[in-house]
Amino acid sequence: MSLSKSTVAVLGGGGHGKVLIDLLKDCKISTPFHDEHYAKIWLFDDNYIKTLPHDNDELNDQYDDQYNFGEQKTKHTYVNGVMVRGSIEDKKYGTSCLVCAIGDNSVRKTVVDDIEKTVSTMIFWIRLVGKNTSISKTARIDIGTVVLNNVNIGPDVKIGKHCIINNGSNVDHDCVVGDFVHIAPGAVLCGGVKVGNGTLIGANATVIPGITIGDNLVIRAGSTVVKDIISKQDRDMYYKKK
Ligand SMILES: CC(C)(COP(=O)(O)OP(=O)(O)OC[C@H]1O[C@@H](n2cnc3c(N)ncnc32)[C@H](O)[C@@H]1OP(=O)(O)O)[C@@H](O)C(=O)NCCC(=O)NCCS
Repeated sequence: MSLSKSTVAVLGGGGHGKVLIDLLKDCKISTPFHDEHYAKIWLFDDNYIKTLPHDNDELNDQYDDQYNFGEQKTKHTYVNGVMVRGSIEDKKYGTSCLVCAIGDNSVRKTVVDDIEKTVSTMIFWIRLVGKNTSISKTARIDIGTVVLNNVNIGPDVKIGKHCIINNGSNVDHDCVVGDFVHIAPGAVLCGGVKVGNGTLIGANATVIPGITIGDNLVIRAGSTVVKDIISKQDRDMYYKKK
């Protein structure tokens, strides 16, 4: 079955939401139905009335026509040219293809878990892949994960659900990355590194081969990890010595 111009609901209109909208406008998307097709983007954000700016009207009009297929314009808030259609918590997405665009790992998990518990219709969490990104044919990437631009993912890598593999990062051969992980821009996981659920590997951090990193940790931006860091105490000790 091939769905052309199917709708994707982007959940979250903050910084990461903007990035995913950019990607969706010009990228490969993978749904259970089709591998590469043009998506109609619908955006949801709980704070849209209170906080999102009505910026760049010219761009908004241009993208509104292009990405909302000329539907009647009403008074709405736009993010990166895409209209905010409602809140995440109302769960009236009008499509089963979703992507959770919340940068914070624990908030992203809370939102996804809540939707999975409460929405009774079938949901397809899409995977997204950006430009100039190389993914080995033997790598496995689970649902809801977004791999941004200029990323390398090596052979036999396993990446869990709803992760963010950010611009310019490198996840080398045999790495195992848990669910709801964020590998920040420019971070490098050398071969055979394991990263637990919910962990953030900070921007430009480097983790040497074979290291294990535990759940729900933040690895400092720019740091080099040469020993296993399993708990928060390990992490604090590790950086205290530096
Ligand atoms: C790790 C982090 C969360 C701070 O955690 P922390 O260990 O609680 O650090 P604190 O803010 O308490 O600072 C403690 C000390 O470490 C220093 N420090 C904090 N982060 C640092 C970093 N990334 N590199 C070097 N030093 C750092 C602080 O300057 C402070 O030094 P001081 O005691 O001499 O004043 C944060 O600095 C960080 O690197 N986050 C990752 C951000 C990121 O990459 N996000 C991705 C977005 S796409």
